[in-house]
Amino acid sequence: MLNYESVDPIETAITESLKSKIISRPNPWVGAALVPKDCQDDPKKWFLGHTQEFGKEHAEVVAIKAAGRAALSSTLYVTLEPCSHYGKTGPCTKAIIDAKISRVVVGIKDPDKNVNGSGIKVLRESGVTVDFFPDQDKLKIIKNLLPYLWHRVNGNPYFLLKMATTLDGIIATRSGDSKWVSGETSRKAVHFLRATSDAIVVGVATLKNDDPELTVRYGYDKLIKKQPERIVFGEVLGSFKATPYLRYSGEVNKFCESFKDKDFQQVMIEGGSKVAYEFLRSNLLNQITVFMAPKIYGANDGITMFSGIGTDLIADLKTGSFESVEQLGEDIRIDYLSDITVKFIESILEKNRNEN
Ligand SMILES: NC(=O)c1ccc[n+]([C@@H]2O[C@H](COP(=O)([O-])OP(=O)(O)OC[C@H]3O[C@@H](n4cnc5c(N)ncnc54)[C@H](OP(=O)(O)O)[C@@H]3O)[C@@H](O)[C@H]2O)c1
Repeated sequence: MLNYESVDPIETAITESLKSKIISRPNPWVGAALVPKDCQDDPKKWFLGHTQEFGKEHAEVVAIKAAGRAALSSTLYVTLEPCSHYGKTGPCTKAIIDAKISRVVVGIKDPDKNVNGSGIKVLRESGVTVDFFPDQDKLKIIKNLLPYLWHRVNGNPYFLLKMATTLDGIIATRSGDSKWVSGETSRKAVHFLRATSDAIVVGVATLKNDDPELTVRYGYDKLIKKQPERIVFGEVLGSFKATPYLRYSGEVNKFCESFKDKDFQQVMIEGGSKVAYEFLRSNLLNQITVFMAPKIYGANDGITMFSGIGTDLIADLKTGSFESVEQLGEDIRIDYLSDITVKFIESILEKNRNEN
């Protein structure tokens, strides 16, 4: 617990939170840095914590336990508002008050209906000073916690489309061959995305053509409690590697509504192009993650990322923003956020802006 990665406790807490991204689900992945009195400039004396697996300790409690008596009159930096209710564990606010921490610096408020400002209220009523991270750090946390926040605010899952493409946007050749468009490093990254998803969706053509297992592997399977649900769009007979899976036939909007108030935070759409098109046209996609390989199909008879009818005008194109672009082995990974997600981020930041 005495390791440290940065001289900024805010950055340290954010970095710490990422360690929980797979293990804490369905709890939010939270990080904490406890800075004992007069130790602000000495990161070696800080105590760090991140949320443990579901039902176990939250980040704040891990840091407080590690600190022991050093928690007295300390400052605790935590990326998400501490909980104040009895869930699987006791309230973090109680642990903070009992440890006689003087000041808590919170990243953002937790919109979960059981928290939603009550954690901050309880702390303040008990005489603990509560301050907030600066806006640029709030923004980092909002982006890190997107599926959790989206789910808690809207009651339905965050829909992420993943595709492996050539430079010219082809996902399979004219014969349907797609193994493998992208390289090994990208494929490992896909398994990380699966590990952070509650369900994986494919179309029946992808199931028949590729016979994918649709499981989390590459070692991430050891960190998850349960494999994501596998869902196939369309009618299919026979047994495939992804068996057992759920089947769905019908409107994508209705499909999305079926998750209302269920504990599915992120649903990953893995293609093919017809299923991807349906989600795109229904404005349901929050994020598109593309693994683009330095390969060119070089013709117009391959399978494109989306297959369906297009539009006449550029003004009618779907818009969003590139969140990040990263070189992954020989490929490039692009994370694109759709307009609905960009607006959502702005609205959450706005709700947290007046807190300081
Ligand atoms: N590079 C990549 O990342 C990647 C990823 C996935 C797939 N692929 C490739 O993409 C190709 C398959 O793509 P595709 O566009 O041909 O097919 P697809 O999207 O995988 O499946 C389309 C089929 O799913 C069924 N379906 C879709 N929406 C439905 C709905 N709302 N309700 C009921 N059924 C529904 C329909 O089956 P029926 O027509 O039987 O009704 C439809 O024809 C394969 O070659 C695969 O290798 C590549």
